[in-house]
Amino acid sequence: MVHSPRKSRASAGVPTVVALALAGVGLASMLSMSGCRGDRSENRPRQFFPDMDDSPKFKPQTQTDFFADGRSMRPPEAGTVAFGAFPLVEENLPADAEWAEPFLQERTDLLGESTAMYTGLNDDGTTLAMMPMELTNELLEHGKERFNIYCAACHGYAGDGMGMVGRRWSAPVPSFHQAKYKDRAEPTGTDGHLFHIARNGLRHPDGRYRMPGYGHALSAEDTWAVVAHIRVLQQAFDNDPDSLPAEARTQFESGGRPTQGGGS
Ligand code: HEC
Repeated sequence: MVHSPRKSRASAGVPTVVALALAGVGLASMLSMSGCRGDRSENRPRQFFPDMDDSPKFKPQTQTDFFADGRSMRPPEAGTVAFGAFPLVEENLPADAEWAEPFLQERTDLLGESTAMYTGLNDDGTTLAMMPMELTNELLEHGKERFNIYCAACHGYAGDGMGMVGRRWSAPVPSFHQAKYKDRAEPTGTDGHLFHIARNGLRHPDGRYRMPGYGHALSAEDTWAVVAHIRVLQQAFDNDPDSLPAEARTQFESGGRPTQGGGS
């Protein structure tokens, strides 16, 4: 069949208009969507798949009809011990805790020869007088960095207990320059004691923490490095820089003492 040129022109006109209109709508929507990208707005973001953004969930400490007791947070099974709440060692376990055997073995294997390295304790349970790591310039630098991040807020950059948070803390923050923290013959003055406190913190007799532990943030190596830095601060505070290792002495050449806020 042969179309007249006129007719085919006319029938071509309709799809062209539709195509143009569609292209216009497409362009407009592309522009408006690209307009969302990178825009700053006080309004809530547009949600194209709201079910993926707002999946149903319980917020902590809220009520619900779903569980019979009305609590959205589920109480742990009776006898559950929170992870890390107490060390899995024989003293903490009842005599018949056979289930614990593989865990105790795993712990022993992990600690291996270097129990003291990870616990700061001698075999007889007393704290190590001297740290079990070699003192290097890198270790001192690392210890200073970690101390300034995790301890200085309370204990002060100089270890004098006068950090910004420490001055306002609910319990008084001690200065490391007291004899009882310097004298390795004192139980509170050993490297192992400083290590233990840094990792586990200190509790009130009523069970509340006076100082939080930093074992979650500091590895054993990190913690020994922090202990080494505390020793540097103590010696620097005594104004006896000659007794410092050469590398550490350069840290304090200007003035001999680290000052409050002197982070580096
Ligand atoms: C949030 C504040 C805070 C931070 C951060 C903090 N401490 Fe303490 N620290 C305290 C307080 C408070 C005490 C005193 C607690 C007491 O007397 O019961 C204390 C006590 C100590 C003691 C003395 C323990 C003793 O036997 O008397 C050592 C050692 C110590 N902190 C080391 C550290 C180290 C190392 C860090 C960093 C890893 C650190 N602290 C971070 C608040 C803090």
